[in-house]
Amino acid sequence: MKSNKKNIVLVGIQWGDEGKAKIIDHLAEGADVVVRFQGGNNAGHTIVVGNEKTVLHLIPSGILHKNTTNVIGNGVVFDMAVFLEEKRRLQSKGVDVSANRLKVSEICHVIFPFHQLLDRARETAKTKIGTTGRGIGPAYGDKAMRLGLRLGSFRDPQWARERCELAYQDKALALKEMGQTQIPPFDEVFTSAVQAFREVEPHLIDSSRYLIEQSKLGKQILFEGAQGTLLDIDYGTYPYVTSSNTTAGFAACGSGLGPAKLDFVLGLTKAYTTRVGSGPFPTECLVAGEDLDAGKYMAQKGNEFGSTTGRPRRCGWLDLVALKRAIALNSVHGLALSKLDVLSGLPKVRVATHYEISGKRTQDFPNFWIEDVKPLYEDLPGWEPFPGTCKESDLPKSSLHFLKRIEDYTGVPIVMISTGQKREEMIIRDPQFKI
Ligand code: IMP
Repeated sequence: MKSNKKNIVLVGIQWGDEGKAKIIDHLAEGADVVVRFQGGNNAGHTIVVGNEKTVLHLIPSGILHKNTTNVIGNGVVFDMAVFLEEKRRLQSKGVDVSANRLKVSEICHVIFPFHQLLDRARETAKTKIGTTGRGIGPAYGDKAMRLGLRLGSFRDPQWARERCELAYQDKALALKEMGQTQIPPFDEVFTSAVQAFREVEPHLIDSSRYLIEQSKLGKQILFEGAQGTLLDIDYGTYPYVTSSNTTAGFAACGSGLGPAKLDFVLGLTKAYTTRVGSGPFPTECLVAGEDLDAGKYMAQKGNEFGSTTGRPRRCGWLDLVALKRAIALNSVHGLALSKLDVLSGLPKVRVATHYEISGKRTQDFPNFWIEDVKPLYEDLPGWEPFPGTCKESDLPKSSLHFLKRIEDYTGVPIVMISTGQKREEMIIRDPQFKI
């Protein structure tokens, strides 16, 4: 049956960790297909169902909904060992992870152990990005250098072997130059890749053809972004970024469904800001006293530790200048806001409305030397703690004022508000997102 539901692209509009899994989990209830289109197992999507927490790094968050088919699109870099481990973990919880409902693009590029080694080796060198160490950058690097291997090429092991050896030798040389001699022998790397491929192969499809077909049938497709706009390789705070395009436009390239089929872009922000890894962060709470205390409060109350690496996240105030830029870059139609509850209990809440750059006030997020900008704040009254809720009438008045300020500044409506960790603790303002 053809439905009138829109395809939705969910993207993080900060530095990642905005809480995308919970929103996807909600939207997946009514969707037919959930697609990952970029990144890899550098993502960490945590879903809480009842009292049980599930963290997914590679498999789309829609997998926990029986009605959905889940697709890992061609824009993703794919670690076969991680996929099989994640699949096993889900299987042990009784989740159906059969090839019927878990599909992988046959042209995804493969992450090999030598990519991880290189990723970690580069981190000790002069330019520390603070990567997740999962081999993401080197795998995308090989893709761009035309040295990469796509999953489907393992169907011809001899062909794959020759190509893989080229990529291996290139990395081995780079690693040796960095003084790393503990590199696993090529035969070992290739043999375990071939073994893993046998288990991955049943899941392979041409994701583009599949999604085009599903779209023609009127199925609702949900695109699950990973990381966030400020980590985008082009528009993020380069070089402190990830190695893929994290913005909504890439949902088309990274899945093979054309851009005209991306109907609604939902931009997700926290009520404050966090960042893991190195790089500029204008509104980070660093000033000793009230400011630093507020940052610590957010970190503790919001449990701000990376779900992939466990690293503590840096915390700061909501940055409306950065948000506005991210909204424009993604053509955001509606905003989702997470962790409103975390800010409760603070005497005042700040939002950055301008930057001062070389003595001038601006609302434009710059492309260079972001570490030199001075954020200018507007202070808003804080609000008292409230229990997680799905009713807007339960929200304290000052928190509504905060939400209104964000809408006025950005010109975009807030359509969903997450008020706690649990599935049901979510306010849906736009009826199209009610399940
Ligand atoms: P990579 O993606 O592992 O190469 O890491 C590059 C940068 O992106 C580092 O600052 C990471 O901390 C950051 N990063 C990568 N994945 C995520 C994520 O899922 N959430 C937040 N930050 C991320």
